[in-house]
Amino acid sequence: MGEHAAMLTLFEHLEQGMAHMDLRRLHESGATAERLVMVHSIAEDRHLFDALPSAEGGLQESLSAMQSEHKHLAHEFDQLRATTNEAAARGCLQRIFDNVREHFGVEERVLFPVLARQVDRERLEELGSAWKRRRMRESLP
Ligand SMILES: [Fe+2]
Ligand SMILES: [Fe+2]
Repeated sequence: MGEHAAMLTLFEHLEQGMAHMDLRRLHESGATAERLVMVHSIAEDRHLFDALPSAEGGLQESLSAMQSEHKHLAHEFDQLRATTNEAAARGCLQRIFDNVREHFGVEERVLFPVLARQVDRERLEELGSAWKRRRMRESLP
């Protein structure tokens, strides 16, 4: 959730300047957002969703739905990269920000509270530590 908050702060800043961006800036903003969202999604898949293979029926469905949304977001970033005019790029980037916000919202309002109830605290601490170790490795030069 901390990573969500940091990303949303940056996206809000980019969104405020979007109306005046040319195609190159729109693509650059998209590339920045893509890097953040994809690094987060890959870590989330590996250290949370894929790490809970014994999740019960309903929960497993929710985890799969979130993973599908990660793939869908990756596809939307591909579409943004392929745009060749400002209006299309701007529309695409706005849609991405809206969808990312919606995705984070579902995780925070629905999925994470269920996980907090169904997965024992020790396991969640282990998963969190593994995620943190991954982040620390990534930040090394
Ligand atoms: Fe996610
Ligand atoms: Fe997330």
